[in-house]
Amino acid sequence: MRIALITGASGGLGAEFARQIDRDEKEIDEIWLTARREEKLRELASRLAHGTRIIPADLADRSACGRIGAMLSEAGAEVGILVVCAGFGKVGTSVGIGRDASAAMIDLNCRAAVDVTLTALPFMGAGDRILEICSTSAFQPFPCLGVYAASKAFLYSYSRALRQELMPRKIAVTAVCPYWIRDTEFIETAEDTSGDGRRPVRHYLFAGKASPTARRALRDSRIGLAVSTPGIICSLHRLFAKLVPRNVMMLIWEGLRRL
Ligand SMILES: NC(=O)c1ccc[n+]([C@@H]2O[C@H](COP(=O)([O-])OP(=O)(O)OC[C@H]3O[C@@H](n4cnc5c(N)ncnc54)[C@H](OP(=O)(O)O)[C@@H]3O)[C@@H](O)[C@H]2O)c1
Repeated sequence: MRIALITGASGGLGAEFARQIDRDEKEIDEIWLTARREEKLRELASRLAHGTRIIPADLADRSACGRIGAMLSEAGAEVGILVVCAGFGKVGTSVGIGRDASAAMIDLNCRAAVDVTLTALPFMGAGDRILEICSTSAFQPFPCLGVYAASKAFLYSYSRALRQELMPRKIAVTAVCPYWIRDTEFIETAEDTSGDGRRPVRHYLFAGKASPTARRALRDSRIGLAVSTPGIICSLHRLFAKLVPRNVMMLIWEGLRRL
C-alpha cells in the first residue's frame, strides 16, 4: 500500500496538500493525516475520496514519531509522498518572543521535521517524494522574525543536503519556499505574541493563497526540483537574496514591514 503522509494536515497548507493529493495523485492508495486537532483531521478526512488514517499527535512529544513509525511498519506501508508541513512562527523581537516560544519553534520546525523525515525514510524507495515546507524566510535573516527565519534556513539547508544523499535511492526531496500565505492560521498564530498591541508587521504585502501554493509545490516535486518557489514573489525573493547583500535585504524588509 502506497500512502501520502502529511503533517500539519488539520488546516491551512497541510489540508490543501491533502485535498490536492486526493484529487491528483493517482498512485496513492491512502492518505495519512497528522496534527494535534483530531476533529479538524476527521472533518478533512470525511471530504476526501481516498481512504485515510487519522493520527492525532503533538510533534513536540518525542514519542509521536515512534508511534507513526510503528503504524507504518504494522500497515506494511510505502510512503509515496511525505509532506512535512507542521510548523509555526512568531513575529516580534527575539526578547519579546522569549525563551519558551523560541524553543517551541525550533523544536517543531527543525527537530520534529527531521524526526518525521527519518521516521518515514525506511518506508520509502525509488520514485517516492519528500516535500519539506520551508519558507522564503530561509533565504535571508529577518529581524522581528529571527528565530522562525533561522529555523526555516535550517530546514532548507537540511532538505538540500538530504536530496543529494537520497539521489542513489531515487527519492526526490524538494524544499518548498512559500512567501506569506494569507488564508491559513499562520499569521494569526504568528501575531499572538506580546499582547502589547503593536504589530511588528503592519501589512502582509503580496501575500498569496494556499491552493496555488500547494499546486505549484506538488508540480515542482513531481518534476523533481530541489527548490520550489511557488509564485513569482517567492522566485524574485530567492533571486534578490542571492544577488543583494544581506544588510540591504534586511533594510528592505525593515521598510516593508512598517508600510
Ligand atoms: N502561511 C504562511 O505565511 C507561510 C509562509 C511560508 C511558510 N509557511 C509554512 O507552511 C507550513 C504550514 O503553515 P500554514 O500556513 O498552513 O499554518 P497553519 O494554518 O497554522 O497550519 C499549521 C499546521 O501545523 C500543525 N501544528 C502546529 N503545531 C503542531 C504540533 N506541535 N504538533 C503537530 N502539528 C502541529 C497545526 O495543527 P494543530 O494545531 O492541529 O496541531 C496545523 O495543521 C508551516 O511549516 C509554515 O512555517 C507558512
